[in-house]
This record gives sequence, C-alpha cells and structure tokens, in this order.
Amino acid sequence: MSDAASADPAVYAGPRRILSGIQASGALHLGNYLGALKRFTALQETGAPVFVFVADMHAITVWQDPQKLADQTREIAAAYLASGLDPARSIIFPQSAVRAHADLAWVFNCVARLGWLDRMTQFKEKSGKHKERASVGLYTYPVLQAADILLYKATEVPVGEDQKQHLELTRDIAAKFNTDFGVPGFFPQPEPVIHGPATRVMSLRDGSAKMSKSDPSDQSRINLTDDADTIAAKIRKARTDAEPLPDSLDGLAERPEARNLVAIYAALANTSREAVVEQFAGQGFGAFKPALADLAVEALAPVTAEMRRLMNDPAEIDRVLADGAERAASVADPVVEEVKRIVGFWRA
Ligand code: AMP
Ligand code: TRP
Repeated sequence: MSDAASADPAVYAGPRRILSGIQASGALHLGNYLGALKRFTALQETGAPVFVFVADMHAITVWQDPQKLADQTREIAAAYLASGLDPARSIIFPQSAVRAHADLAWVFNCVARLGWLDRMTQFKEKSGKHKERASVGLYTYPVLQAADILLYKATEVPVGEDQKQHLELTRDIAAKFNTDFGVPGFFPQPEPVIHGPATRVMSLRDGSAKMSKSDPSDQSRINLTDDADTIAAKIRKARTDAEPLPDSLDGLAERPEARNLVAIYAALANTSREAVVEQFAGQGFGAFKPALADLAVEALAPVTAEMRRLMNDPAEIDRVLADGAERAASVADPVVEEVKRIVGFWRA
C-alpha cells in the first residue's frame, strides 16, 4: 500500500462509512440536488469518510450512447465537486473503474433470490409494459447496488425515498450471505439515510408525480443546467391552487403542489417545513413564488456556475476520478479477496 493510501481516512475508517451514487444518465435536477447531492455534502461535514461514485454500470442497464457516456460521468462528478464534495476528504470515482463492483455483484447474483427481485417496484416502472424486452441488467440492477454498498461495508447510505426498497434488498443480501457462509457480521446492515424535507421532490406540473429526468415535460423540473431566468419562469408557472398558504402543515395535507413548493423552500433554506408555513401563513402564491424563485436562484447559481467551469476543464475532473478510483479500490479489493476466500474460489 502506498503512503498516500495508508494516510487516507477511507482506509483507516472508524465505525461510520457513508456511501452513495448517482447514475451517469442524463441531466441532474433539483430532486437529485436536494434529495442526494446537498445531503452528501452535509454528511461530509460530519467528518466520516464519504464514498460517492458515478454509477455508469447502472446507467447502461438502459441504452446509453457510447460517445456520450464518459462525458455524462464527468458531468455527475462535476456536480459532486460543485455542490461541495472535497476530493481531499471524500472519495469520488467512476463505478466501472473499480473492478471489485462487478466481482461482488456476481456473487450476490447467486445469493439474492428471484422472488426478491420480482418485488422491486423500480424494475416494474422502468420496464413498463414490455418486461421481456428489458435488459437482464435492469432486472439485477438492485443486486449491483447491494455490491456497491457492501464492498465498502458502508453503514449509512443517503438516498431519496425512491431507493428505500433497494436498501432493504441490500440488507437482505448482507444477512443471507453472512448466514449461508457462516460469517456472522461480515457484511454490516447498512442504514438508508432518508430524512429532511425533500427526500421526494415532486414535479412542478403534477404534485402526484416525482420530479424525474424521464418526464417528457421540461417544465416539470428544474435542471442543474438551467439559467436564473429559466428557473424563475418555471417556478412562476408551477402548478398550484388558489388558496393562500395555511398556518400549519396540516393545512397542506390535501394540497400536493403547495406542499411540494413548501418542501423545496425548506430544503433550500436549510429550515423545516413548519418554519416556512409559519413565515408565509396567509400569503398567496403571488408572494410565495417570487420568494422561492429568488431562493432557488441564489442556491443553485454558484453550483451551476462551478459545474460549467469544471466541464470546461475535463482534465481536472479526470484527475479527481482517477485518484478516487485508486483510493476506492484500495478499500474494495481486500473485501472482494476475502469474499472469494469465504465462497471457496480457487487460489494458488
Ligand atoms: P438517479 O438519478 O436516479 O441515479 O438518482 C440519484 C439520487 O437522487 C438518488 O439518491 C435518488 O433517490 C435521488 N432522487 C432522484 N429523484 C429525486 C426526487 N424527485 N426527489 C428526491 N430525491 C431524488
Ligand atoms: N440506484 C440509485 C439511483 O438510481 C443509484 C445507485 C447505484 C446507488 N448504486 C448505489 C445509490 C449505491 C446509493 C448506493 O438513484
């Protein structure tokens, strides 16, 4: 092990290890920023080692243009850096650059049961009506995700609400591996970290649909590449009702669009939804939306500007990713070697 690696906080980690990833497929939006990016940075500030990777192997479970994939990977890395992840403290890397992910995923494919995967709602949503035409990779996607997490023996996994079921599967795979091979406690039970006001940011056009990169309407989401005028216009046009804001959260129960805007405000302002409702009680959206637009522009402008700067300097991003891959491998490789020994694979 090199001196640099042995001095790495990730190698000699304490009891906490934080890990998460974002797929290298298409543009990032406000849901990713509030549900994931911003929270990774907050967790970094707790001092625990943070592993964040770009899930390019997950991205190819649906078709990706080979001419674009590497740039999509750089773009997610740029978003990590721009939102405040510090490559000196956190380990930022492309999933495909650390071979151990694929190795462990295969072993886990043999631990997970078909019945478990059959219950995964994200596969059902993504494969749609023509399940037989989906890739096999899309089906075993959550198994690769379990490998991503358990390779680093991660204890905390910050994600949006939509990933809860995949985290439950990860825990089931960890437990079954430990039992089947008689190695109690080898893999930990990672905790999903799903709190804060914005773990499920909804579409600006429909309060019952998640904000998503696959929504055909660009008006439904705020992209991290949108400029200030576009952000303000999208918020101004966001669907709402005609009522003023209530004086307590209970008053939002039947108002999904209003509830979503309040949650977004709270997350951007680092406060609670209760505090936002108290501040704006009795005011209409004519007052609330411009305040929200100002806040969104103020919070996102430095992030998007830094992303643009980094995307013009791919060599800098590549340096971070190559260094991160090396440090990640120094943690992951010994775990995979140990798994191979536990499973009983041949070695000389
Ligand atoms: P993905 O782009 O699907 O790889 O998602 C990356 C991260 O963003 C995951 O932690 C997701 O749970 C989170 N995320 C995606 N969409 C939303 C949303 N609308 N609200 C909150 N978090 C989200
Ligand atoms: N499936 C996650 C998503 O779509 C991305 C992901 C892949 C992930 N591997 C992970 C998230 C491991 C957390 C931990 O958002």
